Amino acid sequence: MSFVTVRDVFQEYDGRPIIERVNLDVAEGEFVSIVGASGCGKSTFLRLLLADETPTRGRITVDGGRPAREPGRERGVVFQKYSVFPHMTVRDNIVAAESFPKGFGWFRGAKLREARARADEVLERIGLAHVAKNYPSTLSGGMQQRLAIGQALHARPRILLLDEPFGALDPGTRLSMHEFLTQLRAETSMTVFMVTHDLGEGFKLGDRVLVFDKTRWDPDYPERYGATITYDFDARDHGIPYQHILDKIPSLAAQSDPAPAPD
Ligand SMILES: Nc1ncnc2c1ncn2[C@@H]1O[C@H](COP(=O)(O)OP(=O)(O)OP(=O)(O)O)[C@@H](O)[C@H]1O
Ligand SMILES: [Mg+2]
Repeated sequence: MSFVTVRDVFQEYDGRPIIERVNLDVAEGEFVSIVGASGCGKSTFLRLLLADETPTRGRITVDGGRPAREPGRERGVVFQKYSVFPHMTVRDNIVAAESFPKGFGWFRGAKLREARARADEVLERIGLAHVAKNYPSTLSGGMQQRLAIGQALHARPRILLLDEPFGALDPGTRLSMHEFLTQLRAETSMTVFMVTHDLGEGFKLGDRVLVFDKTRWDPDYPERYGATITYDFDARDHGIPYQHILDKIPSLAAQSDPAPAPD
């Protein structure tokens, strides 16, 4: 049964088509990786899924409901550029992730102590326990990104949107974040959409890998047409040797950039 349903979605900015005719059915609990050339509209598509923007045409529904008009608590996001609360300590950033979605404001007393203990477990898992009392501005970019990921996961949204979440991490940290995400998925029935430039990562974590690309080109007017889903690969059980796909679609190889920046 379709949980996230995308029907004939178009998005334009100032009359310029970015994505066109996107149709998609995603079951609850599925992990969907999204790849495609820079600028083809992947982040735009995530913003539409988040209901941060309403599509120019078409509709996106969750669990058979009405199309959302604004981001709700059931949707969590890690943006391409990390965003954490700068005025809160690392630990309180994680506590906030748990307390805000409940809608009761801050935890107090014993509840706060328990929430802080749970936050410490998360910090342990993402390797930030030693900086729990620091402020985000004192952390490296990669550490702030890890904090943003920990925050989004700790809120346990029904739908998690990840925009190149591991791009800035060194290979070892990236692997431990993969493990953390995989464990949390096993504990919840979270549905995940993850944009990545690393095809190997997309196939390793995803149940499906979607490719966004333009199907039509106007050489005199390259911005005339938008991108759509051109491939929808089954990636379960690590079943697809994605290198074979690279042989078939060389344009994807150019988009795959597994070399991470140092943490
Ligand atoms: N709010 C906006 N107003 C106008 N144009 C926009 C807006 N948001 C995105 N665009 C344009 O839409 C196109 C797609 O942008 P988007 O950020 O979705 O690409 P992307 O696939 O995520 O690229 P990257 O891989 O580089 O992150 C770009 O040309 C961008 O300039
Ligand atoms: Mg983007």
